[in-house]
Amino acid sequence: MASDPYKRRLARLEARREVLHGGGGDNPDGRLGPFRMGRGGGFLLVGAIIAAIVTIGSIAWDKQAVKLATGPNPEDAHQVQLGRSVYFAHCAYCHGDSLEGKADWQLTYARGGRPPTPLDAEGGASLRSDQALFDIVKQGGQPFSPSGYRNDMPAFAQKLSDAEIWAVIAYMQKSWPVDILAEQKALNRR
Ligand code: HEC
Repeated sequence: MASDPYKRRLARLEARREVLHGGGGDNPDGRLGPFRMGRGGGFLLVGAIIAAIVTIGSIAWDKQAVKLATGPNPEDAHQVQLGRSVYFAHCAYCHGDSLEGKADWQLTYARGGRPPTPLDAEGGASLRSDQALFDIVKQGGQPFSPSGYRNDMPAFAQKLSDAEIWAVIAYMQKSWPVDILAEQKALNRR
C-alpha cells in the first residue's frame, strides 16, 4: 500500500477523519468533500439559510414600505433609489441631471414662463414644506400661482403614484446639506 501514492493519500485522509470524528462513529460512510460537515456544520448551514431568508424578506419589506410611504425620508436608501429613477424618467430633462435647473431661472418673470428652477439647495425648493412640494409635483405649479402668471411646472397626478412623488422628493432632499434639510424639515412642524 505504501508504494501507491493514491492509497497513501487515502490513508492520510482516513486518519484525519478519525481525528475529526473521534473514531468515525457518527458517519462511517461520510466522504470528505466540499459538503462534508461535522455536527456543528448543519447548524451553520441552517443558520446561513435563515439569515438569507431574513435578508431577502427585509429587502422585500423595505420595498413594500416605500410603496406605502406617506412622506419623504432621504435616509431611506430604497426610497431614494426609487426617487432617482423617477427623477431621471420625468424631471431631469427640465430640471437638469444634477437638479441644477435651467439658466436665468432667478430673473423676475412677472407673467410667468420662468425656466425650470433648481431642485438642489440653490433654488427655492428647500423653502417649501414636504406637503407643499408634494402638491406642486402632483397638481403642477399653476394652482399655486397668482392669477395672470403662467406656471410651466406640469402636473404629475396622471403619471406618478403618491409614493413615487414622495420618493422623488426624498431624492431631491438627499442632495441638500444637513443644515438646510433640518431647516426645511422644521417647516413641516408649523
Ligand atoms: C416641462 C418641464 C418640467 C418638468 C418635466 C418638470 N418640471 Fe418642475 N418645474 C418646471 C418649471 C418651469 C418650474 C418653475 C415654475 C415657476 O416658478 O414659474 C418648476 C418648478 C418645480 C418645483 C418648485 C420649485 C421651487 O423653487 O419652488 C418643484 C418642486 C418641481 N418643479 C419638481 C419637479 C419634479 C419632482 C419633476 C419630475 C417629477 C418636475 N418638476 C418636472 C418645469 C418642469
